[in-house]
Amino acid sequence: MTINLTYSGDYQQLVSSELEKRLKVIHNNMLNKTGVGSEFLGWHDWPSGVSETFLNEIQQTADTIRQNSDVLVVIGIGGSYLGSKAVIEALTPHFHKHEEIEVLYAGHHVNGEYLAKLMKYLDDKEVTINVISKSGTTTEPALAFRFLQKYMEDRYGEDACSRIIVTTDAQGGSLLSLSKDKGYQRFEVPSDIGGRYSVFTAVGLLPIAVAGFSIFDLIKGASTAEKTFQEFDINTNKAIQYAVIRNQLYNQNYSIEILATFESKLSYLQEWWKQLFGESEGKEQKGIFPASVSFSTDLHSLGQYIQDGQRILFESFLIIEETANDLSVFTADNNNDELNYLSGLTLNEFNLACYEATSSAHLTGKVPQIGISIKKLDEENIGYLLYFYMVSCAYSAYLLDINPFDQPGVEDYKTNIFKILQKPGY
Ligand code: PA5
Repeated sequence: MTINLTYSGDYQQLVSSELEKRLKVIHNNMLNKTGVGSEFLGWHDWPSGVSETFLNEIQQTADTIRQNSDVLVVIGIGGSYLGSKAVIEALTPHFHKHEEIEVLYAGHHVNGEYLAKLMKYLDDKEVTINVISKSGTTTEPALAFRFLQKYMEDRYGEDACSRIIVTTDAQGGSLLSLSKDKGYQRFEVPSDIGGRYSVFTAVGLLPIAVAGFSIFDLIKGASTAEKTFQEFDINTNKAIQYAVIRNQLYNQNYSIEILATFESKLSYLQEWWKQLFGESEGKEQKGIFPASVSFSTDLHSLGQYIQDGQRILFESFLIIEETANDLSVFTADNNNDELNYLSGLTLNEFNLACYEATSSAHLTGKVPQIGISIKKLDEENIGYLLYFYMVSCAYSAYLLDINPFDQPGVEDYKTNIFKILQKPGY
């Protein structure tokens, strides 16, 4: 299990002995859980420490939900929903009918019509709710939960209690006290793991298991990555290499990174990646702005800007080498569309050619490029990939002398909204 990483420039030229020394300190700080933000490094050795018992407990809960429910509604925002949504979307076949169970989301935005329609949609279905908030105080999911909790109590009466599962911090927050009062089943968000690093905890694992995907394989992939990236070698450790390339491009005034894919099932993985890097690095007027495109679609929209606009962008392609259920171009009798020259080509081969063509066009347009590829979209590969991004993101932020694990800027809008809506105490 591995990922491949390529860079359009000369990697060796980017690494000075001074940079290598800094990286070694960062690396050791992460391993030893010292340094800035180290109280939130719990995710770093989490995959290898996850016990079979814990995974079985999650799986058993998921099996019960799958048996007694048609829909699981996950209430959460930011790191409390993006990880599970990214994995579920990446693994779910296109046009899937959700015959067994459907996982839906709420509380990631505030929209009365959405919530009203969601409750209407749930009316003729059996429902379980998983409300996820580490702090237990985030307004958007708390608001959604107020409505959905009442909906569940109106529908199920006392039985609502067995259909509401809370995932929150073990120490405090109103969600914790509320769940204790009501006797809801509870999973813990470890206090040393922040939201955007929590996909391998119950935050991500329960919804992913409910959707029918193997959390055992996901953790296996993440564990392999954990082990691999413990080795400090700037010539082989790809998490370090990705961080170095990003950092050196940033120093050359490339301030926007575009994560480009040719697979539309990865759109939420792109959202997860944007949150991970944006919220971890974008502080103190520093950091690369993370953006995303989906090709070929965006080659016919943003492709123009990438090719010819301001030279402040670099691209990192995320490539899936093998796709399932591929089609081959067949030979048409009349060849009116003049596509017979493609006969026998699979559509994935077309995409790989398109990747090569796009990459070389954008290189001519002076867009530096990183290529990251995994073999296929399955639990193990995704677990490996997500861990790779997490560890690389931490190196990247530390290289900018930034604490990767806080998000002070997010508080500003929250304080303003409390003032505008006259929350007591504001
Ligand atoms: O990464 C983070 O910590 C944040 O994005 C949080 O996940 C997000 O703000 C939601 O917070 P909470 O889980 O406390 O409701």
